[in-house]
Amino acid sequence: MSWSTSGGPGRITGGGAVVARAPAKVNVHLSIAPLRPDGYHDLQTVFLAVSLFDTVTVRPAEGLSLTVSGEGTTAEPGVDRVPTDRRNLVWRAAVLLAEQSGVKARAAIDIAKAIPAAAGLAGGSADAAAALVALDALWNTGATRGELAGLAAQLGSDVPFSLLGGVALGSGRGERLSPVLARRQTHWVLGIAREGLSTPSVYAELDRLRATGRLPDGTELPSPQPVIAALSNGPPSALAEALTNDLEAPAIALRPELRRALTAATDAGALNAFLSGSGPTVAALAEDEDTAVRLAATLAGEGVFRTVRVVHGPVPGARLVG
Ligand code: C5P
Repeated sequence: MSWSTSGGPGRITGGGAVVARAPAKVNVHLSIAPLRPDGYHDLQTVFLAVSLFDTVTVRPAEGLSLTVSGEGTTAEPGVDRVPTDRRNLVWRAAVLLAEQSGVKARAAIDIAKAIPAAAGLAGGSADAAAALVALDALWNTGATRGELAGLAAQLGSDVPFSLLGGVALGSGRGERLSPVLARRQTHWVLGIAREGLSTPSVYAELDRLRATGRLPDGTELPSPQPVIAALSNGPPSALAEALTNDLEAPAIALRPELRRALTAATDAGALNAFLSGSGPTVAALAEDEDTAVRLAATLAGEGVFRTVRVVHGPVPGARLVG
């Protein structure tokens, strides 16, 4: 497949920079089927895009280069470093989009990170989605949103949702999406740990705990409907009761101190607290925005987390800005 690039000027042309941003996500429902032969797990999830954004800026250049600033780039010990070479999903997004659209992969790409790495917030996926949107405009590829979504699915299970945003039901390995109309805003405090957790290791721990009979085997998955109903028209307390995450038990098994972090969040007034995706970020649901701000102040004061962020969702997916 190769897309036409002869369709006239793109949305943004000339020597200037193109800027896009994409949100973090929380899986408000995550139920996981047994391991597939290809190393992935089928799952049923409800994604919620939240207001913590990474920003990707791309500029015309002779070759391909990548710089990263913000979260994950400090010299602070224990903070996960984000790679700046082809191991970075953004690099792979650039190469894939260039190949598919028949252009040379030429751009100077900068990622300004607010979403911590290896935190269960799909930060790398957000970067890839924002890069697809920005480079699509820079290179004037002529790709449709659907074609970009196809590339996103090749890059990672969560990248299509980072592109779409809002609320969506995810199936397959997470890349098959049905948008959910849920405009009601929910307010959260994200408690971010000093050290990340690797997603494959949390899935592997889930498989191990299931093999030893310590967790249900995943052949019967609970319905995501209670979470969808709560997000659509229930009070925050209904959502608090419906939150589920099959990766929480294995993440806690790998990082037992997360139990204390979850208790700290509910003790401080969260309606409920659970892990975002594969963790270790604690997502604490608040009654409203004011409560979220107070909850964040309490948790910051207790020093249980490296940092805390107040966010709301749903918010849109990857978009051009400026
Ligand atoms: O798709 P992505 O590359 O983000 O997935 C990272 C890893 O997470 C996979 O290699 C796999 O170990 C695990 N995973 C999984 N089942 C999924 C999604 C991810 O086992 N549905």
